[in-house]
Amino acid sequence: MRMRRKPYARGELASVDFNIQAPLEHYSKWASIFKRKAPLMLELGCGKGGFIAELAAQNPDINYLAVDIKSEVLVVAKRNIERVFAAVDREIDNVLIMAHDIERIDMILSPEDKIERIYINFPNPWPKAKHKKRRLTYPRQLMKYREFLVDGGEIRFKTDDDELFEESLEYFSDCGFKITYLTWDLHRENREDNIITEHERMFSSEGIPIKMLIAEKQEMKKDV
Ligand SMILES: C[S@@+](CC[C@H](N)C(=O)[O-])C[C@H]1O[C@@H](n2cnc3c(N)ncnc32)[C@H](O)[C@@H]1O
Repeated sequence: MRMRRKPYARGELASVDFNIQAPLEHYSKWASIFKRKAPLMLELGCGKGGFIAELAAQNPDINYLAVDIKSEVLVVAKRNIERVFAAVDREIDNVLIMAHDIERIDMILSPEDKIERIYINFPNPWPKAKHKKRRLTYPRQLMKYREFLVDGGEIRFKTDDDELFEESLEYFSDCGFKITYLTWDLHRENREDNIITEHERMFSSEGIPIKMLIAEKQEMKKDV
């Protein structure tokens, strides 16, 4: 979906402390900029941020990073976080957002950052063969995430797209992840911990079943 240009986005993002202007400067030091010492989790491609806003507001004892490449959507995430935290009368102290290209995520996160969980919700499916390597679950990406994900850490992945889901199952297995949860129809499962994202609401209203898996990082004997 194409977003309208928002000339005010960068300025508005720069006006709040929970937006990180220069994420490269925090490489391997993310834990130190949060108010509380807590497990660190990451959302890749947060879009308009409804998911991370709810998740962070519900879990004050976890610190969160949320990344998206587009300032135009990140500014909506900023407003959603402000709205959700205001509704529960909480200071925004456990979530940071930033504009960065996930294909270069290894420039901002290192093994010392010890990410415990990664959320990937409704990433672009990139169906054409020549574009598949851009998928956020493509092996080249998964191997980057392995570097900063703790042993036993997990990736929670949701999508509307059958082919992306099926091929991602292979990617996870090839990259040393064990699937510990899998459903082809998440909303039939009534998982109490599910937070519905903007794209999830849209696909679901079109009658498309939502697929979800949890992949746990295992030790690998040799790199793929
Ligand atoms: C289809 S939207 C899903 C947004 C949200 N997760 C949801 O479920 O509603 C995919 C998001 O990923 C972001 N994205 C795609 N490729 C990216 C990349 N290489 N780096 C950072 N963000 C990316 C897009 O800007 C977009 O906001």
